[in-house]
Amino acid sequence: MSRITDLNIDEIKDSELLKGFDFTKYDDGDRERWKVLLDGVLTAQNGVACDSYSIGMARLGENFSELPNLEDLNHKLERLTGWRVMAVNGILPCEDFYKLLSRKIFPSATFVRDWHSQAFTGYPDLFHDVVGHLPLFFDKKFSDFVSKSSGVIYEILRNTPNGSAEKEQLIQNFSRYGWFTWEAGLIRENGKAKAYGGAILSSSGEAQNLKERGFDEFSLDEVFNQTYTDKEYSCRYFIINSYDDLFASLEAIKTQYGLNKSIT
Ligand SMILES: [Fe+2]
Repeated sequence: MSRITDLNIDEIKDSELLKGFDFTKYDDGDRERWKVLLDGVLTAQNGVACDSYSIGMARLGENFSELPNLEDLNHKLERLTGWRVMAVNGILPCEDFYKLLSRKIFPSATFVRDWHSQAFTGYPDLFHDVVGHLPLFFDKKFSDFVSKSSGVIYEILRNTPNGSAEKEQLIQNFSRYGWFTWEAGLIRENGKAKAYGGAILSSSGEAQNLKERGFDEFSLDEVFNQTYTDKEYSCRYFIINSYDDLFASLEAIKTQYGLNKSIT
């Protein structure tokens, strides 16, 4: 997976968000792998997905039984949530990633993972981004958390010198924060642990790993200190009681880094 180094977010026009995406380029192999992936994930999601995910899926009006056209999804998403998708195939510099999210632009890969990566993929593909994440953007509170926390993180990173040890530590901490919330996060619903994290909701293997490992109560300090790798299933899972807990953690971050004014 190549690194994207020439992106100038401030100059991207709305009409360019899906530049390079061509729905006609998908072949029968892509469509077959998509269907097999979906079968496995739908079975694994049973009893695991949180309410806001199921509601978002219904509002999106999709069951993803066919490989979706990002252009159609983008129209629906923008009309119903104000969020938009940007087609991105490569690894974004982390400041660009947070800046996009703070502007309610969700970077999505467009390739469909290969047969060897059915249960798990270290690199996000179209399936992970679309099936794992998009439905949650219909939950206003959750999607506000994603945009607002990304804005805060972007400001903190932007004000820290490039190449400094402090910046490296911040990038690591915020990667862990993202991983243990919107990728591998759990929320308590009617006393049961349900997933809002896209890595769980888009991977039959990750959902199985969750059942075997169990979970701990969410703690910002523990998350900042918990190493992880996105090259294998999550080593831990953390549960929140509601999305208010995420906003409380964001307030703690703002206080910790001197950003006490509200950032919208
Ligand atoms: Fe993701």
